[in-house]
This record gives sequence, C-alpha cells and structure tokens, in this order.
Amino acid sequence: MNQLQIAVAKGDGIGPEIMDAVIQIFNAAKVPLDYNFIEMGKTYYEAGHSSGMTDTAKQAVEELGILFKGPMETPKGKGVKSINVTARKTWSTFANRRHFKSLNGVDTVFSKAGIPIDITIIRENIEGTYGGVEHMISPDVALCRRFISRPGSMQVHRFAFEMAKKEGFTKVTCAHKANIMKMTDGLFLETFYEVAKEYPEIQANDIIVDDLAMKLVAYPQQFQIVVLTNLQGDIMSDLCAGLVGGLGFAPSANIGEHISIFEAVHGTAPDITGKNLANPTALLLSGLMMLRYLGLMEHANTIENALLYTLEQGAHTGDFGDRSTTSLSTQAFTQTIINHLGKVPSTNAARESKVLSNFVKPVAPSDQKMMLGKHGQGAEKLVGMDLFIETEQLAHELASTIQSILPPSLKLINIANRGTQVWPVGSKFTECVDQYTVRIEAINGTTSMSELLACSQTLSSTLNLSSIEFLKYFDNKAGYTLAQGQ
Ligand code: NAI
Repeated sequence: MNQLQIAVAKGDGIGPEIMDAVIQIFNAAKVPLDYNFIEMGKTYYEAGHSSGMTDTAKQAVEELGILFKGPMETPKGKGVKSINVTARKTWSTFANRRHFKSLNGVDTVFSKAGIPIDITIIRENIEGTYGGVEHMISPDVALCRRFISRPGSMQVHRFAFEMAKKEGFTKVTCAHKANIMKMTDGLFLETFYEVAKEYPEIQANDIIVDDLAMKLVAYPQQFQIVVLTNLQGDIMSDLCAGLVGGLGFAPSANIGEHISIFEAVHGTAPDITGKNLANPTALLLSGLMMLRYLGLMEHANTIENALLYTLEQGAHTGDFGDRSTTSLSTQAFTQTIINHLGKVPSTNAARESKVLSNFVKPVAPSDQKMMLGKHGQGAEKLVGMDLFIETEQLAHELASTIQSILPPSLKLINIANRGTQVWPVGSKFTECVDQYTVRIEAINGTTSMSELLACSQTLSSTLNLSSIEFLKYFDNKAGYTLAQGQ
C-alpha cells in the first residue's frame, strides 16, 4: 500500500449517501487514494466526545493532513459548538475556498440570459464573529467580540493572491464593511492592500459588502476572486450558490498550513435523508478540488468531464434540472456519471487546472505553541478605559454618580448606549437599554493599569460593572473608535 491515504468522515444526514456515491465514482476512475474512515459527527458528539470525534479520528486527521468530510449536524441547544466550525478552527484551516461556476444542464436565470459565472470566494475561516466569543452582559444585553488579526488577515489575503497568480486570475477583490467597522474591517482592508503590493501583476480592488451583494446579482461576471471576513464570506457564498443553481453545486476547501478539509457547502439536509434523493455533485466537486490539491489533475479532469457530460445530457436529481424529465435517485445519478467516465463535454468546457502541484505532506508542527509572526509594532500607550455598566439610571444621573467617584487624574469623556453617544450631548430620540458604555480617560493623556483597576473597583461598590475594555494608542494612533455622535 504505497498510495496516499486520506481521512474520510461520512458525516450525518445525507452525508453517508453522498460520500458513498463520490467514493464509488473515485473507485471507478481508479483514483489512487486509500481511505481511512474515521469516527466523527453527531453520533460521536452524543457519545460524549465534545469535539465530535474520537481520539483515534483526531489522530488520523492530524497524521494524514487531509480530511474529506460529509456534512455534520450541529446538535441543537445552547452551549453546543458546531463540529464543523470546531474542526476548521482547531486545525487552523484559515482559508475557505468556495468555487461557483455555471454548468450547462443546470439552468439558472443567468445561464438562460447567456451570462457565465465563475467566481471564487475566499472566506477567512477562523476569526471574525465565528470566534464565538459572546457574553450576556446583563439579562437583556448580549455582546459578541469580533477578532480580526493582522497575521490572520494577511494569511488569507496572501492565499487569495497566490491562488490568483498560480491559476491565472487577473483580479482579486476585497469585500468589507470598513466604512462602519473601522478597526476590524479596517484592518482587514489595510492588510489586503499591504499584501497586494507583493503582487503588482494582479489587479487589486475593494468593495463594500452590501454593494457586492447587489453587484453579484446584477453583474456577477465582474468578479473573479473575492476575499472576505468569516461571516460576510459565509453569507456571500450562499448568495453565489444561488447564482449557479443552489447548494447542490457549491463545493469548498478549507486550506491550512498543515491540515486541509474538503467538504460541500451544504448541510445534512434532514428533509431528504435516507431517501436516495440527495444530489452528490457539491461533494463530488469538493472531492475534485481535493484531487487537484493533491496533484491528481488527470483523475480530476476525467471525473469532471464525466460529470459535465452527464449534466449536458440532462440527467439530474430532484433539486435541479428540467422538471418535465424524470429525476434520478442519488444512486442512479452516480451510476450515470460512472457510465460517462471517458466522455468529454461539448458545451461545458472542462476546467483545465493550470496548477501543477506536487503534493508534499506538510510536516506536523512541534509541540510548542504556534504563534503567527507579529507584524504590528510600535509604542503602546494606555489612555483610559471603556466600562460597561448595567443600570436603569438616565445618562446624566449616571454621569453625576461617576463624576462624584472618579479620582482627579481621570475624567469622564462620554457615555454611549448601544454605540450611540447619550452624554454629554445626545438626542432625546435615542432609545436606551440598561447597558451603558462609559468612557474614562486620563487627564494628562496617559494612565496605568493599576490606576484604572483601582478606579473600577471603587466604581463597582456603587455600580454594576459588566465588562472593561482598555483604551490604548499604538504608534500614536488611537486603538478604539469614537461612539456615534461623539
Ligand atoms: P442544508 O444545507 O442541510 O439544507 C438546506 C436545503 O437544501 C434543504 O431543503 C435540503 O434538502 C437542500 N439540500 C442541501 N443539500 C442538498 C443536496 N446535496 N441535494 C439536494 N438537496 C440538498 O441546511 P440546513 O437545513 O440549514 O442545515 C441542516 C443541518 O446541517 C444543521 O444541523 C446544520 O448545522 C448542518 N450544516 C452542516 C454543514 C457542514 O457540515 N459543513 C454546513 C451547513 C449546515
């Protein structure tokens, strides 16, 4: 056995049906891979494995470096983290590459209008709101912290530009909301242009994410590669799936330095589980991304040609295609693709990948903690703090309470409610909840941690503190935003 071995998790719901279908196709096309079927998914979660997989499964993925997986159900209920998201994050698969291409035989509004679509979304896969750092800071108010890091952003931008360079794309677009989220999306955008400088041959531009949503629907042919933060990338990629015929045609690869995971974008489809109705195409296309990643170009091209030929012939499962012709079952559709191995499509151009990758299994990291390189530098200065306070007092009452307690070296700058300034000036139309953000700064422009902590402790004897955020300058630049209206 000297073939490359990969870990395979069939998943939940329709997972086993579509994974079996894809492996049948791979076997028929003599794909030189050995499959190590691992124990991962809802059943293993319910059996007490909090990460959704057994230790043996985890070890297999970490040794083999490649996981091909079916969709997995996230058990419902508070406090339960998604097995899929946990796997992507734990194994640092920082770039989620999702490819959306019109296929002849899959009718959409755009295919009928003769507008071809070929868009790749590169979604940052680890940070952003998917950090899942959320707290109830009062019974009525929840707060989510959104991490965007310089090294994390640079890693995903570099992946997008490298992909463009290797695969012959001419343009990379960064979509963001930096006009509103100046620190987080601002950093994502800043690092995009920093990395873009290393690739002068590739056109780099940016777009505000809401404009992207409109333009993807109106002019999808304008886009080649779009790189986005985690949640925005997730939403925009489902939009793109809709453009090319739905989730049945949306493959994805989660790429990391050491471990990569290949899976369809869709979920476990509980409504059609066990009925032999599922469309295996998205998982098959994800498998083709994996074969190309592993350098198995010929096998990928042969299978893709058979799939495209099958679609051209009008064969379809129940979720797409000509409703006046009979829908095939998962098994019959799979067998049709197998029967077409060796055929070449006439109208669908098979994607000839230009990547001549020679897959070399990455060496596992040492036991030391892995720290991404530090890029930001410069002097740090502590200037104050934002205190989150739960109270039903009116803003001016709260201001008086705080001012009566503050030491002379600190001053109350402003009070905001849900991000909108309500003191020293505000609008009588601003509706408030019982959570205020109180900004306190040093009179002379700099303070110490002990002074701020001592002040918080004093305030906490009178007020109900929910959280503290320290205000810092980095290289003479404020590392915090102003409240709206400040
Ligand atoms: P879903 O993607 O499973 O289903 C949405 C709709 O699309 C359903 O009507 C379903 O029948 C249809 N559909 C999806 N894949 C299909 C296929 N291959 N062929 C034909 N029809 C297909 O999304 P939903 O219902 O929101 O999630 C169900 C479960 O899947 C949840 O537990 C969710 O957490 C999990 N999930 C897992 C993912 C993963 O493993 N990467 C991704 C998304 C959801």
